[in-house]
Amino acid sequence: MKWNNIVAASFIVAGSFGLQSQTTQLEVDIENIVAEIQPSMYGVFFEDINFAADGGLYAEMVKNRSFEFDNPKMGWQEPNSNRHSHNNESGIAKIINYSDARGNYNFARISVNKDSGYELINESYRGMGIKEGESYNLKFQAAPQTGEISRIKFEFINEEGQGLGGTEVAIETANSWKTYKTSLQASSTEERAKLKISFTGTGEIDLDMISLFPKDTWKGRENGLRKDLVQMLADLNPGFLRFPGGCIAEGRTLEKRYQWKKTIGPVEEREVLVNRWNTEFRHKFTPDYFQSFGLGYYEYFLLAEDLDAEALPILSVGIACQYNTGEMVPLEDLDPYVQDALDLIEFANGTADSKWGSIRAEMGHPEPFNLKYIGIGNEQWGPEYIERYEVFHKKIREEYPEIEIVSGSGPNPDGDFFEFGWEELTKLNTDIIDEHYYRSPQWFRDNADRYDDYDRNGPKVFAGEYAAHPENTEDGPKENNWEAALSEAAFMTGLERNADIVHLTSYAPLMAHKDAWQWAPDLIWFDNLKVYGTPNYHVQKLYGNNPGTEVVNIKSNGKALTGENSLYASAVINAKENQVIIKVVNTGDQKNKIALDFSRRVAKKAEVIQLHHSDLKAHNSFENPDKILPEEKEIRGHTIELPAYSFTVLKYNLR
Ligand code: AHR
Repeated sequence: MKWNNIVAASFIVAGSFGLQSQTTQLEVDIENIVAEIQPSMYGVFFEDINFAADGGLYAEMVKNRSFEFDNPKMGWQEPNSNRHSHNNESGIAKIINYSDARGNYNFARISVNKDSGYELINESYRGMGIKEGESYNLKFQAAPQTGEISRIKFEFINEEGQGLGGTEVAIETANSWKTYKTSLQASSTEERAKLKISFTGTGEIDLDMISLFPKDTWKGRENGLRKDLVQMLADLNPGFLRFPGGCIAEGRTLEKRYQWKKTIGPVEEREVLVNRWNTEFRHKFTPDYFQSFGLGYYEYFLLAEDLDAEALPILSVGIACQYNTGEMVPLEDLDPYVQDALDLIEFANGTADSKWGSIRAEMGHPEPFNLKYIGIGNEQWGPEYIERYEVFHKKIREEYPEIEIVSGSGPNPDGDFFEFGWEELTKLNTDIIDEHYYRSPQWFRDNADRYDDYDRNGPKVFAGEYAAHPENTEDGPKENNWEAALSEAAFMTGLERNADIVHLTSYAPLMAHKDAWQWAPDLIWFDNLKVYGTPNYHVQKLYGNNPGTEVVNIKSNGKALTGENSLYASAVINAKENQVIIKVVNTGDQKNKIALDFSRRVAKKAEVIQLHHSDLKAHNSFENPDKILPEEKEIRGHTIELPAYSFTVLKYNLR
């Protein structure tokens, strides 16, 4: 379908008060249910890309808190120290290895040569966002060695080095490790603060796990999540939470793949790993991007539970990212990978006295998480994927027949590998196949009928990663323009119409830090203090909050609307509210009128929620986060005028 309203033009007739469009008649067949809609239909895809976890959702404010990055002092500055001088006047930090390391390999030995003269400063994730009057919980481990360091001072500073609130902690003299806890209050709001550490006395002291969280995390949890960002997810009303990605599940090499077992248990024992997006894109280098795994599998399950969403973990199938090394585990060595999948199901669903269930219970959740789905392989392709997937499939089916297994069809929505994947996975009787498409807005408008002809007897579909990518744009945030969002809204009428086979859908990626992103567009943009939803976010939110329970037909001249007269539509019943919900998208540059003809009586009055903008290049931003926001109103009647470039949700009570 062409973007410019060529078809619509033939419907436009001259009226006495200017141009008027012809009315499109739409028959809504409420009596005949076409399909049930899965409660999980509209979900979220979370990946630690764009600083989405460390530096984003995970509220830890100290970067490289345990000196574990490849360069163990990365993120830390010593402004008064001269590391080239042996007789360092103020002091210096040296990195020492533990002799009995358990996930955490290093600590810092601080030599303070001049009372209050040495400073260690953490730059955080492109600065620390602090808010005036708010409290921050500090926790660190210390072991004095020689001399007498009696106090450590922790202070927020701004870029000019001015103090913005701090606290001092008295240090015990015993030279064994001790964990200290205290809090600091910020005296002003600052987006790029740093944490300065200084010492009273001289001598040597060992420091590790220097950690700082806002007191006000999501649900007030220690080791918690950024409240404003989780709220954005909750507002989407997601049916599922997919984690931990994406390519991050696969790793650039097998050794660096995501291993869920290394992300549970005590936070200080979780082994830090380089983030696979660290140096992936030359134009978006982020060499300080590592995974602390403070947000690990237990925390993902908790988050899914908080959001009332199904957890959907994706595991390595034994092939590293095929865009990188594509390393493969020989088939005969696949067992530990398969065992990881089986153990994960036990971790989530096993009783509190099972091997893995007991770890979950110890961590604070004796009740099972009721895992229903498991994904094997992210975006793999070719026969090597199929033969490895098959081994997992058989074993999981055998031991956990109730679990729905998600497999993948590769990075493209068509082509040889896609066709091959679907054919082979169908033969294996997989439950759901994950499809990925990052395509132009035009592609999304043209593909609103994509699933109309899919085989109704084969595997179900997970539209697992999709986003409309406008062409010729340079700035990530601007790529989330109205054209992209509107095209996704049009496409999603097709997902909804085909809810009998499309069981799960998610936009990707989910989040991006404005100063540290690698991939755009993204659904949600944040900095250290603020967050806003893109127009695409509002489209997802309208679908997620109005999913309905059953699909019914909405047709014009006996056919589904997939772009005719620039219109796209779907209709669902919400049995719980006794409503019929119509979603209609006008991609045309003219107003468009529809007349709804219901097969049974419905109320005259409708609740309307509408997103529209006259400029397809318009986008939301930190300066203007509300430029494209849904408007709510009430209308009377079944004939509705749709503004140009609009997405409208109409809710009528059933009589
Ligand atoms: O969403 C970003 C990346 O796109 C995902 O990690 C990967 O699965 C896809 O290629």
